[in-house]
Amino acid sequence: MLTLVLAEAEVELMPVELSRHPAVIAHARLRRKQPTQILLDSNYHHAAMTNLPEGRRRGRPDITHLFLLTALESIVNKQGQLNVIVHTRDDTVITVNPETRIMRNYERFLGLMEKLFEKHVVPDEKQPLLSLRQNIPLKQVIEQVQADVVITFSKDGTSVVLPDYFKELKKQKKRHVLCIIGGFPSGMFHTDIKTISTDVVSLYPDMLPAWTVASEILVNYGNMSR
Ligand SMILES: C[S@@+](CC[C@H](N)C(=O)[O-])C[C@H]1O[C@@H](n2cnc3c(N)ncnc32)[C@H](O)[C@@H]1O
Repeated sequence: MLTLVLAEAEVELMPVELSRHPAVIAHARLRRKQPTQILLDSNYHHAAMTNLPEGRRRGRPDITHLFLLTALESIVNKQGQLNVIVHTRDDTVITVNPETRIMRNYERFLGLMEKLFEKHVVPDEKQPLLSLRQNIPLKQVIEQVQADVVITFSKDGTSVVLPDYFKELKKQKKRHVLCIIGGFPSGMFHTDIKTISTDVVSLYPDMLPAWTVASEILVNYGNMSR
């Protein structure tokens, strides 16, 4: 089993302090919602975010969108071997049913996430595809999964060749592998990842986007488990 955790993902509802900014009001009006009901998105709210603490890394639901498309449409997921969790900067945790089909259209994805933040489950309680829980720190998310090994991916980690690394884990009979990928565009993890990880590993000397790291993990894990 492979669990992929997108950690500290930059997905959040509009901070109240930005809800009166003209760019935010205009975008909310266009979407026929209240400013506090829409997601913060640097594509649209850049002008409002200049004085927001950590404004340069916040408001990036597009990273989560591309990550979910990559993970849920992977062969490993089709083979029933994947568990996907999104943890956000505010310790909100989104559990993803493996059968979820994420819409490719980004605007529709934003609408889905906004509904999830409002209702905490979509489409409904009877058939939950995405469900949301609040106030769960990353450490607790990891502990709840009870994986055999917890690997954090970071440019600054120990350099590994992923096929060999996964083969070694298989030899050691680590059946449930949990991989943590940062869901933010720049900067470091806020969580002290060394204390929650078995290993911190790097795939390449330069920074890669989260969905590229996810696809490397998915392909190499799939090849190893076949
Ligand atoms: C865009 S990066 C975040 C920026 C961060 N400064 C960094 O270099 O890791 C998104 C995530 O992809 C993963 N990642 C990026 N580059 C990587 C690399 N070269 N090796 C392993 N993981 C990487 C990490 O989990 C990172 O948090």
